[in-house]
Amino acid sequence: MDLKDHLLLASSKIRTSLHIDSRQAMLESRLLMSHLLLQDITWMMGHPDTPLSLSQSDAFFALTERRLNGEPLAYITGKMAFYDIELNINPSVLIPRPETECLVELVLSCLDTSQPLSLLDLGTGSGAIALSIAKARPDWKITATDISGDALFLAQHNAKRLGLNQIKFLKSDWFSKLSANEQYDVIVSNPPYIATDDPHLRQLGFEPLLALTSGQDGLDALKTLITQAPPYLRKGGLLICEHGYNQAKACYQLFKSCGYHDIRCTQDLAGIDRISSGRIA
Ligand SMILES: C[S@@+](CC[C@H](N)C(=O)[O-])C[C@H]1O[C@@H](n2cnc3c(N)ncnc32)[C@H](O)[C@@H]1O
Repeated sequence: MDLKDHLLLASSKIRTSLHIDSRQAMLESRLLMSHLLLQDITWMMGHPDTPLSLSQSDAFFALTERRLNGEPLAYITGKMAFYDIELNINPSVLIPRPETECLVELVLSCLDTSQPLSLLDLGTGSGAIALSIAKARPDWKITATDISGDALFLAQHNAKRLGLNQIKFLKSDWFSKLSANEQYDVIVSNPPYIATDDPHLRQLGFEPLLALTSGQDGLDALKTLITQAPPYLRKGGLLICEHGYNQAKACYQLFKSCGYHDIRCTQDLAGIDRISSGRIA
């Protein structure tokens, strides 16, 4: 069996088992093969008749088997494209989602770029938000935190690999380890926001619960962030949080009761209320 036969067989198994269309299934099998052979997809398309050794063939079907068992592609390949960077990913962090790219887009589009700003990313995970903003705004002063040492280690590794050396990393339970004197122009977060008994959690079984759930209604972390952020924001500073599809109203109430103004909600690409923000007077 040559390269093309392997791809056809794997994509047919992936399509049937994961109930995805044949285009997506072929893309996934190509990405698995690309990961194994360390060749890009264009090379593979130009060399369909390449023979595979027995060990390459076994290794490819072992990777395919992991995918058939529902393991996300990003954990198998250890990579994920986000905004305009590629991140290394492992099971200690959430796989960054397209919704979060909207948060990055919002930060970059709504903030004055004529002067360097200071930004705090709380719950940085793989570093997705902090690193993509750092790449777009190299003169901003950025701090990224997480309570998970493993996540922070990976985010630091990603920063080093991408040459984004202006980011300060800190292990902290939300604001607990931040200096009381430090204030930021903008605080961003994509915190865990799923309710602990949400049935959708079953489909997310490979990702860390710490990154997903936050109390009975999923709002614990958002409450902490919105209520505790004000002293860490400069006058006119902005808090921007991603949240669940049904949490915009609760976030609005929280922002309002904590005295923020200019409270806004932005939709994601699917038209779902996804990002809420408020400004401190
Ligand atoms: C939804 S994930 C977001 C990761 C990343 N920012 C992204 O958008 O892909 C939430 C992150 O918050 C972190 N986290 C959970 N509880 C925390 C806490 N008490 N303090 C700081 N970070 C926390 C998790 O470890 C996880 O990395």
